[in-house]
Parts: sequence; C-alpha cells; structure tokens
Amino acid sequence: MRCFPCFPYQRRKKGSKVPPRDGKKQRQGGKRNRKNHGNADHVDIKAQHFTFRQLATATKNFRQERLLGEGGFGRVYRGTLPKSGKVVAVKQLDKHGLHGNKEFLEEVSQLSLLHHDNLVKLIGYCADGDQRLLVYEYMPGGTAENHLLDIGQNKKPLDWNTRMRIAYGVAQGLEYLHNEVNPPVIYRDLKCSNVLLDEKFNPRLSDVGLTKLVHAGDKIHGTSRMMETYGYCAPEYTETGELTVKSDVYSFGVILLELITGQRVIDTTKPNAEQNLVSWAQPKFRNPKLFPEMVDPLLHGQFPEKSLNQAVAVAAMCLQEEPSVRPLISDIVTTLGFLLEIPEDPPAHAPCKTAVNSKANSEHGNSSDGRGFPFIQP
Ligand SMILES: Nc1ncnc2c1ncn2[C@@H]1O[C@H](COP(=O)(O)OP(=O)(O)OP(=O)(O)O)[C@@H](O)[C@H]1O
Ligand SMILES: [Mg+2]
Repeated sequence: MRCFPCFPYQRRKKGSKVPPRDGKKQRQGGKRNRKNHGNADHVDIKAQHFTFRQLATATKNFRQERLLGEGGFGRVYRGTLPKSGKVVAVKQLDKHGLHGNKEFLEEVSQLSLLHHDNLVKLIGYCADGDQRLLVYEYMPGGTAENHLLDIGQNKKPLDWNTRMRIAYGVAQGLEYLHNEVNPPVIYRDLKCSNVLLDEKFNPRLSDVGLTKLVHAGDKIHGTSRMMETYGYCAPEYTETGELTVKSDVYSFGVILLELITGQRVIDTTKPNAEQNLVSWAQPKFRNPKLFPEMVDPLLHGQFPEKSLNQAVAVAAMCLQEEPSVRPLISDIVTTLGFLLEIPEDPPAHAPCKTAVNSKANSEHGNSSDGRGFPFIQP
C-alpha cells in the first residue's frame, strides 16, 4: 500500500508545474544493471583516468588555497583540468583504510555507471602507486549545510520553496539509487554536508559509494565519524548495524526536518532537551497546531501553511522507529512533487487538494492504518 494515500498517484501531466522527473531517461532502458563489472581495468571504466601528476597540476600541487574542505575520507581540492579548462573537485582519499588497486578500480567502474541529475558526476579517478583520487564535477553552490546551518550574518537564508525543491531533488536522487539501479544502492551517508548545490540551488548527492571504497567507512561504529553522522543514522543502524533502503529514508527525514527548522540534528550548544532535533520534534509531530513553531525563525513566517503541514507529515513518516512503516522513497518523491505545486496564497474558499485528498484518505482507511500519521486538514 502506498504510504501517502492522500495524494493522487497518476504520473504528472504535461504542462504540470512540477519539475520533470530527472530519472526518466535512465528508466527508458529498464533497470541499469551494475552486475558483471568485476575485474575492471582502466579500459572498462566509464570515467576518465588521470595520473597523479595531472591532478597535481590541476590543483597547483594540492595547494592550501585550493582546499575546498576536508571530510572523513580525505581532502577536497578545486582543480582546473589542463586541456578543457573545466573546473573540478578532486578528492584525495586518505591512504589509511584504502582497498587494493583491483577493488578500487572495480568499485570506481560501478560508480562510473551511475548517472542522474541529482547525483554529483564522477568525472574521473586516479590510482597511482598508493594514491587514490576521485575527480568530481565542481558544485559552485557549496553544501546545503553551508546555506542552512552555517549561515553567517550576511548570508540570505534559503526561502521555503528552495528548501522544498532541495528536498525534492534529494529524494529523486535517492529514488534513482533505490529503484533504478540494479542491484539497488543504499546511499548510507545522507546528510546535509553531502548535499551539494549548483548555482541555482539544485541539489546533487555527493560521495555516493564512497563508504565502499574505504574500509573505515564500512563501519562507522566507534569511529570519530560516528558522532558527526550519528544524528542522521536510523535507529536500527546505530543499534545493530543493519542497513536497508529504509535507513536512507530515515536520514532523508532528518534532512527534511533540518530544512524545515534550520536546526542541526545534533546541537550540543543547546539545552539538553533540544540537543537532538528528532527527539525535540517527535511530540510536536502529533499536534499540527505546533507545526508553525517548528519552522526556521529566519523565514519570518514566510511559508505556505499547507505545504508546511505536508512537509512535516512526510518528515514524521520517515522518522518512524520501525523501518517497515517508513514510506518508500518513490512515494516521498510523488508527495513532494505535489507539495511543490501547492500555491503560495490559495484564493479564499477555493477547493484545495488536501480537502479532496482527505476523502481519498478516509476511503483508503488511512486514519486507521496504525501508523498514527496525521494527514492534515486545511
Ligand atoms: N564536488 C564538489 N564541488 C564543490 N565542493 C565540494 C565538492 N565535493 C566536496 N566539496 C567541498 O568539500 C568539503 C568536504 O567534503 P567531504 O565530502 O570531504 O566532507 P564532508 O561531506 O563534510 O564529510 P564526509 O567525508 O563524511 O562526506 C565539502 O563540505 C564541500 O564544501
Ligand atoms: Mg562528503
């Protein structure tokens, strides 16, 4: 059964204002088969091979001024490819914990087959001696974290619609990984700092497959990365290490909640009761009157109420403890697509979607399906 029965499930009509589904092209050829790509050598890989020297030149010898940032897997530098002049991001993987050359090439070979408008493109790679580097398209907008959680005084906060467009794009990227790639890819590292933005704030997921390239990423239990990513991890993962597509859905719920509230999932500078965003939000999920209080104060009340109600409802569904009752990512994509269509100022007394859908809702018996999910009435 669909998880969001209050929304009609026909595919979008022509002329709809909802952005087109980016994964469509890939879907035409059926599921993308990632099997049988073992024993990769450079010839098999659908990404450009670079020598270490070429990437050293591109990044001016990995100069400090070219450093874009550093994460759990290594440092990222801005580079310029010599022939094309294309600006790229070069990730130099930490040597500690790296797989052997063969495994690295096999994994890169598989990653090079993934293509979607909401995934950061892998342009190339380098496996030279003990050096392993990945070359990605450069994302000029930085991370969603920069614009949402790290905003300085002079930066404009993201408006409501941009936030929802980011959520929609992230969901589409995940939908591609879960439903169109065969076998499905569990992203498992979904967090605001891995959502990169282009100049128009279109989101792309970065570091897809990286945890498989590095031993250290296989288990975040007991590592320093654990604290950074802890808040995004589904409870079943932190408790037992179990990872499924539904763990990604949980992490998506955290991102959506961060987009709504403008607050970090874990913030130790806050009073104890507010340090964990999910625990803080859980009691509010049950009372729609409290939803406006959850919204980022930097929005100064500028958000469509119906859209807020639906966004909070989606987050609440994703953040359920029990993985099996969390929605499928395809249902989330559909729901957010309709949410983006909700007009900012609906004319008074106009029939609205939620009212129509609430009928469908009760016909589907949703209110009594045991999920305790509040479909919001206007
Ligand atoms: N493709 C890219 N284009 C532009 N900037 C990038 C790109 N990839 C990474 N960055 C920058 O480099 C920084 C570090 O990225 P990195 O992925 O190494 O760390 P992280 O996302 O904070 O943590 P993690 O290692 O857990 O993914 C990012 O915060 C971002 O600012
Ligand atoms: Mg990252």
